[in-house]
Amino acid sequence: MDSIEIVGGNRLVGTVPISGAKNAALPILAAALLADGEHVFRNVPNLRDVHTMTRLLERLGAQAEYTDGQVRVNLSRAIEPTAPYDLVKQMRASVLVLGPLVARCGRAVVSLPGGCAIGARPIDQHLKGLSAMGADVELHHGYVEVTVPGGRLRGSDIALDFPTHTGTENLMCAAVLAKGRTTLTNCAREPEIEELARVLNKMGGRIEGAGTSVISIEGVDSLHPIDHAIIPDRIEAGTFMVAAAATAGDLLLEGIGFEPLEAVIAKLREAGATVEREGDGIRVVGSRPIRPTDVITQPHPGFPTDMQAQFMMLMCLAKGTSRITETVFENRFMHVSELNRMGAKIQVNGRTATVKGVDRLEGAEVMATDLRASASLVVAGLVAEGTTYVRRVYHLDRGYEHIEEKLIPLGANIERVSGNA
Ligand code: UD1
Repeated sequence: MDSIEIVGGNRLVGTVPISGAKNAALPILAAALLADGEHVFRNVPNLRDVHTMTRLLERLGAQAEYTDGQVRVNLSRAIEPTAPYDLVKQMRASVLVLGPLVARCGRAVVSLPGGCAIGARPIDQHLKGLSAMGADVELHHGYVEVTVPGGRLRGSDIALDFPTHTGTENLMCAAVLAKGRTTLTNCAREPEIEELARVLNKMGGRIEGAGTSVISIEGVDSLHPIDHAIIPDRIEAGTFMVAAAATAGDLLLEGIGFEPLEAVIAKLREAGATVEREGDGIRVVGSRPIRPTDVITQPHPGFPTDMQAQFMMLMCLAKGTSRITETVFENRFMHVSELNRMGAKIQVNGRTATVKGVDRLEGAEVMATDLRASASLVVAGLVAEGTTYVRRVYHLDRGYEHIEEKLIPLGANIERVSGNA
């Protein structure tokens, strides 16, 4: 298994191109199941999760091929609507095929995603919505089996208990081919939801309100394939912003606007970084001292849970004490013990971590536990004294495209070491 080796202490300076968004690419690839013919998706990041999704599409009967940032998905053969455990267990977002399969085939059998390092993460809201649209839902042997009597879902009013991100996406995909109008309330409002609505509408769907908490979907009889370039990854951009602030660096993030990152930008400014629009990108300049800053994670447009670990790392170097509260997932503090091994002073009490700033972090051997925790450890390694070894980096490869190749030209002393070296 690969590791990342970092000798800390260098300022990051330069320009970083931001890759396509993982969390937009995954539901869009799944949504391709809704229309026969050949789709072309561009600006698709070269990530482990994307390859898991293309393998899943292949297993379902589609042809899906990744080459140089493009994925072609061709649906010309019969679809077998069963998503097996061996793929779903690798990536919880595999559950995104559920809505498209039920809409297209009138039935689906999808392995339950099960537990996950960052919390229980059930899919009850996805299933509640499908039931409201007329589907029968049963759980057997670790699989959820959804059958639609008559074969076609019908539009319905669905109020989500919580603005679930992939749940909103699954239900949008289910409703787009249903008979009649569906109104989803208390929806997730993330930019990736708006992007999925753009894609579905380009395919011939009739969706309004995506990006707000009420989405209205008038079902259509069929959809057609499209050619589409995916939006940039706001979480990758946010991670580089934190790296600029932490190293007192100066980075220009290319191809990403302010809008999807407003909550993160506000907190970085509060912490003392300068963040400005520049061309079609964002410039971030870090300075000292870093000011202590409290953060509470919230569904969009609040501060994203996917930036919590990275921001906590920054607060480890602040002059004073910060409180970081995680409200979206119940168990998303696994990076704390690893950061403490590098000299941080973080104490967790329930959903809140109290971070006492320290003057410096020290390089250590640390273990990546989930995707964003891994990113926080890489940034910690960039500022720590001495050498940091981040083990188990397959988590990092699930969500960051060649992170070390992007960091080296910025001045980072970082290397990927393959195998057990
Ligand atoms: C998505 C993102 C993930 C991000 C998260 C929150 C993708 C592929 N993943 O994950 O990167 O961290 O949003 O912004 O886009 N919940 C239920 N019942 C449900 C669904 C969710 O109780 O049916 C709970 C979960 O356990 C969790 C919370 O709701 O505590 C948020 O989950 P959700 O918004 O669904 O996250 P994901 O869509 O899995």
